[in-house]
Amino acid sequence: MFEHAVLYDFSPTGGTRRTGEAFCRAIAASVTVVGLCAPEMPAQPEDTDIAVLAAPVFGGRLPGIAARRLAALKGHGLPAVTLAVYGTRAFEDALLELNDIAAADGFQVIASGACIAQHSIVPELGPGRPDADDLAEIAAFAARVLDKAGRGDTTAPQVPGNRPYKQGMASLTAPITLEGCTRCGRCAAVCPTKAITVTAEGVRTREDLCAMCMACTAACPSHVRVLPPEVQQKTAQKLHPLCSLRRPNAFYL
Ligand SMILES: Cc1cc2nc3c(=O)[nH]c(=O)nc-3n(C[C@H](O)[C@H](O)[C@H](O)COP(=O)(O)O)c2cc1C
Repeated sequence: MFEHAVLYDFSPTGGTRRTGEAFCRAIAASVTVVGLCAPEMPAQPEDTDIAVLAAPVFGGRLPGIAARRLAALKGHGLPAVTLAVYGTRAFEDALLELNDIAAADGFQVIASGACIAQHSIVPELGPGRPDADDLAEIAAFAARVLDKAGRGDTTAPQVPGNRPYKQGMASLTAPITLEGCTRCGRCAAVCPTKAITVTAEGVRTREDLCAMCMACTAACPSHVRVLPPEVQQKTAQKLHPLCSLRRPNAFYL
């Protein structure tokens, strides 16, 4: 077991965090969680002996804001495990991109996972995941990572993906606020790109800043912050054929 793990995660709607925390609890006696999906870049803790970098997949890549936050971390040669968390469709170049960023930061990546969580736009994909079976697989992966680290094996895992990476997702739209908004300001408080302003007149969203991460929709206590219905419908239609698929987690050591 490691003494103290640090989990750096970017988790707008919680699936990445549940995956990262499950892994960290299985490899270390204590865990500090550093959420990178906050309006300000948080400080890095000291005295940790393993780092876990976890991020969701958007359009087969890392969300741009997540990539920038992860790229600002300092690795100082610390062993690290990377986790790309995706919503059943595909992870394409995201895990490779995450590993490249971790290596450029100065982390020593020793293992990686591509894990499934419920799709944050179309919840019919992988509903409830990571579920009990996923958590058991993540714990078994953690045991293999501990074994590898215990043998002093620091070789980097080979993960799928291509360089140059596929084109990043262009954010064409942003969530809207329906009637019933109480102006509580939760949406603005959780937005990692500070795209949202709440005033007495209403909620304003800068589409040019919005990462479509869905943090605001997940945080809205009145459930009135939603994707524009036509975007929601189009995405659901496109992904519908994958609803019955249980995509397996994949681990690389
Ligand atoms: C804008 C956007 C793009 C996404 N693109 C993909 C994708 O390319 N492949 C996929 O399988 N899931 C995709 N997803 C689903 C997320 O990767 C998945 O729901 C992940 O768990 C979200 O992380 P979170 O639960 O920590 O917010 C996308 C979600 C959003 C909001």
